[in-house]
Amino acid sequence: MINIEKRIYDAIEEVPTLPTIYSVLSDTLISPNANAADIAHLISTDQSASFKVLKVVNSPIYHLSSRIESISLAVLHLGFNEIRNIILALSVINLFSKKKLIAAFRPVDFWKHSIGVGVITRYIGNTLQVARPENYFLSGIMHDIGKLVLFENFGDQYEKVLQYSEERKCQLIDAEKEILGIDHSAAGAILAEKWKLPDSVLKAMKYHHEGSSGDKDMLTAAVHISDIAARMLEFGFAGDDYVQKPNPEAWELLKLPPHFFTKSIGVLTASFDETVNSILNCD
Ligand SMILES: [Fe+2]
Ligand SMILES: [Fe+2]
Repeated sequence: MINIEKRIYDAIEEVPTLPTIYSVLSDTLISPNANAADIAHLISTDQSASFKVLKVVNSPIYHLSSRIESISLAVLHLGFNEIRNIILALSVINLFSKKKLIAAFRPVDFWKHSIGVGVITRYIGNTLQVARPENYFLSGIMHDIGKLVLFENFGDQYEKVLQYSEERKCQLIDAEKEILGIDHSAAGAILAEKWKLPDSVLKAMKYHHEGSSGDKDMLTAAVHISDIAARMLEFGFAGDDYVQKPNPEAWELLKLPPHFFTKSIGVLTASFDETVNSILNCD
C-alpha cells in the first residue's frame, strides 16, 4: 500500500479554482445591495450556462407549473442559491476532461451516474420539502468527484484500483483504500474544502457511503440512498457494479412516502434523460 495523501493534497492544490461566474455570483449574493435584476443579468451574460440552466430547471424534478423561459423567472421561482448551485454543478462538469479512459471507467458514464444521483437527491428534497433544497442537486452531482481527482492524477494506480475491484468483486471505495490508502470520499472532501463549498455539501460528499455523518443529517442520508437508487436504476456507471446495502438509519431518517421509488420511476427516468441531454450533449 502506498500512502499518497500528501500527493493528493498537492494534486488538489493544482485543481483550478471555481469559474469566475460562480465566484462573482457568490460575492454578489452576499452583497447587501444585490438585487434580482443584477443577478439575473449576470447569469444571462453566459449564454451557454443560461441555456443549460433553463433546461435543467424545466426538467420534471423541479415541479414548476409552467415552462420557464428566462433566467430572471428561474431566479424568481427557485431562488438565487438554487440557480447559483446549478451553475456550479455545470461548471464542475466542464472543469474535468471527459476524454480520458482507463479500463471500464469512462468519465461520461461517471457524469451520468453523478447527474442521476443529483436528480434523485433533488427529487427527494422536493418530496420531503426540506429546509435547504438548493444543496441537494449540487451534492448529488459532487458526491463522487474524488474519483475523478484520483483517476486524473494517479491514473496508473487507479487502473490497479479498478482491477482490484473487478477481481475481488468489491466496491471502488474498498479497492481505493486498499491500493491507495485513501478513498474518493476523503479526496472529494479535501476538494470541497478548497472550493469552500457549504458544510452540508462537504459532509454529504464525505459520508455518502456511510449514509450518516453522525448528526441526523438529511442531505447525507438523501445522497446515500440516491447513490444506491441510481445504481439500481442503471443511471450511468460509477466504475463498479456492486450495490451496497442502504444504511437503515438513513432510510429511517428520510421517511420517504410508501413505495416512493416504484411510484417515482417515471418522473426520475424522464428527469434523468432530460438533464443528461441538456448537460452532456449540448457542447
Ligand atoms: Fe462513492
Ligand atoms: Fe456514487
